[in-house]
Amino acid sequence: MTPRLIPAAQVHAELLAGMHRICFAKPWDVAAMAALLDCPGTCGLIAAAAEPAGLVLWRQAADEAEILTIAVLPPWRRAGLGGRLLEAAAIAARDGGAERLFLEVAAENAAGLALYLGHGFHGVGRRKAYYDDGGDALVMRRDLG
Ligand SMILES: CC(C)(COP(=O)(O)OP(=O)(O)OC[C@H]1O[C@@H](n2cnc3c(N)ncnc32)[C@H](O)[C@@H]1OP(=O)(O)O)[C@@H](O)C(=O)NCCC(=O)NCCS
Repeated sequence: MTPRLIPAAQVHAELLAGMHRICFAKPWDVAAMAALLDCPGTCGLIAAAAEPAGLVLWRQAADEAEILTIAVLPPWRRAGLGGRLLEAAAIAARDGGAERLFLEVAAENAAGLALYLGHGFHGVGRRKAYYDDGGDALVMRRDLG
């Protein structure tokens, strides 16, 4: 079954936090998700078939947007869902007036990097020792024009 993409709302904070917990070593909890969804300009999509499969959250301000987080649950990976979520966020951001889309990814996150490079992002900066574990973050950008 192909997952559907559903707009994320406050009522989904617990679901989003549950998926984040499965996918990240330092997950965002329910309160953090609820606070994010409350921020002006924050949007999200949930991928769900019979069960939840993935999420993407982004924030838009004027002509710039930023992917805040994106994840696909392990059973659904390598089937194009991450790319679908990313493209859906890019289209929504562009339709909302964004001309550039940014994101941050850990330099050693091979899956994330490959996903982004394959979807039109390129590196525009490196934040040295950005993460608690001392790892660098790469800043990437995609033009939406
Ligand atoms: C990164 C992530 C969202 C990718 O989701 P996905 O649904 O597997 O992505 P897709 O199936 O759309 O993959 C698209 C391309 O990305 C690359 N890719 C995805 N996973 C990869 C992996 N584990 N290793 C290498 N390349 C990978 C491949 O180029 C892939 O294309 P291909 O399958 O035709 O080779 C998923 O692995 C994930 O949730 N990881 C944990 C959370 C995370 O790191 N999020 C990103 C934080 S910045």
